[in-house]
Amino acid sequence: MSPLSITLDRESRVPVYRQIVDQIRDALATGSIGPDDRLPTLRALAGRLGVNRLTVARAYDHLSEEGLIASHIGRGTFAVRGGQPERSLHPPPGPAWESLFARTPERAFERPFPSAAMTSAGEGTISFASLYPDPDLFPVKEFRDCVDQVLGRQGAAVLAYGPPSGYPPLREMVAKMLGERGIEASAEDVLITSGSQQAIDLVARALLDPGDSVVVENPTFLGAVQVFQSLGARLAGVPVDEPDRLVEHLEQAAARRNPKLAYFMPSFQNPTSRTIDLEARRGLVSIAAGRRFVLLEDDFAADLRYEGTDLPPLKALPGGGSVVYVSTFAKKLLPGLRVGWVVAPPRLIDRLISLKKITDYGTSLLPQAALHEFCRRGNLDHHLKKVSAAYRSRRDSMLDAMEREFPDGVSWTRPEGGLSIWVTLPDGVSADEVAGEAESRSVVVGRGDLFYVESPRRENLRLAYSMTSPAIIRKGIAVLGEIIRRRMTEGPIPRREKRAEPMPLI
Ligand SMILES: Cc1ncc(COP(=O)(O)O)c(C=O)c1O
Repeated sequence: MSPLSITLDRESRVPVYRQIVDQIRDALATGSIGPDDRLPTLRALAGRLGVNRLTVARAYDHLSEEGLIASHIGRGTFAVRGGQPERSLHPPPGPAWESLFARTPERAFERPFPSAAMTSAGEGTISFASLYPDPDLFPVKEFRDCVDQVLGRQGAAVLAYGPPSGYPPLREMVAKMLGERGIEASAEDVLITSGSQQAIDLVARALLDPGDSVVVENPTFLGAVQVFQSLGARLAGVPVDEPDRLVEHLEQAAARRNPKLAYFMPSFQNPTSRTIDLEARRGLVSIAAGRRFVLLEDDFAADLRYEGTDLPPLKALPGGGSVVYVSTFAKKLLPGLRVGWVVAPPRLIDRLISLKKITDYGTSLLPQAALHEFCRRGNLDHHLKKVSAAYRSRRDSMLDAMEREFPDGVSWTRPEGGLSIWVTLPDGVSADEVAGEAESRSVVVGRGDLFYVESPRRENLRLAYSMTSPAIIRKGIAVLGEIIRRRMTEGPIPRREKRAEPMPLI
């Protein structure tokens, strides 16, 4: 065990995770933690300090980014040999950064994305934690050919600044692709963004003032929540576990909160993997149109349907003028290109283009042009066939394994597409504890509580099957089944860290 001693000042304006970072950095600088020393586990340090595990995970992430420590799932977290703390014990006086930060509500940072320590798939680790497409399926050669082709043909032009609204042929192509899904859009209605995360951010920045209400599904995608909260929006959740009452719930929330915006993922929702049926889709659009708020539709998993009938996007339904549509090439093709898009009516799209220009002048032309070439050659259709077959077989392996390994009382979704399955644990079994024990046995899962914006929260796990082969999926599910079964018979273990620092209610 390392000689690490940390004292927290609860009255300080310096956030708790920062205090942990600073004290570990100092311990490294003074040598009280030596090279290759093992640091306490997230769970152990969180328990000792009486803080949430995520707080410690956030501190460890900072230190890993600085190259001072490294986490190896299954082995632990260690001080890096030769890692030099950037800050000495006696830094020259500088700005008091915490007091200079803009007044972004702190809660936007309170629940970071699941930390690298909790999601990264180290050697020997089985990762069900992240909705990532599998890099082994990336069409690297085909994409390289397209990069060569556009560089050869367009040369310097494709390395220059481009229009902030996006590479014109790609805007055209996206509009055409959307036409095939029933969305009437011209190239002028499409803005290319740096991933759909930026699309959500720009729409939110164009519409929201501090104090505005935003309705979201509960649970929902954490990346969107953080955007809304960073702008000072007040969130209201509509529960998604009663599909027949979804429209009624939205109606009630809209009446109560008079939102400017409602954010929905109608297909293979993140995190629950649920899909909203046609009747409910019509209901949502008609409420938005009637009450004159904007429905932000996130179609992030578009084209990742492996069976069943495709449903029209909200944007394609009567009343779709109230819908702003965002989607991405990230999940179906290559996340690292950072290319997504937003479709909005002319007045709003002009505003979004102005904001995009202020933000980054426009998304890089080279990936856009290469993507356009890739799709023009028919490579996207070919790629979708390949990944759909792979993901479908992984999903089936996960469902079969769950059927075999999970005890009665556990339930889960059976999505017709997407990248993950949503598991609901029986009463009395804590998802946090199951996740913690699984992690110690090198199986990393998505903890359901991260995605809830308000009560009631249920005990869930989000299990992504996209990154793992069927044989490994079976192994990981067997481990989870064993943990859940034992916890069902042994009963809950007291949750000290939860009581010490409850998850923030938003
Ligand atoms: C539901 C949802 N929307 C949007 C995004 C952002 O994707 P990107 O910015 O890579 O397009 C993600 C990423 O995980 C997501 O899960």
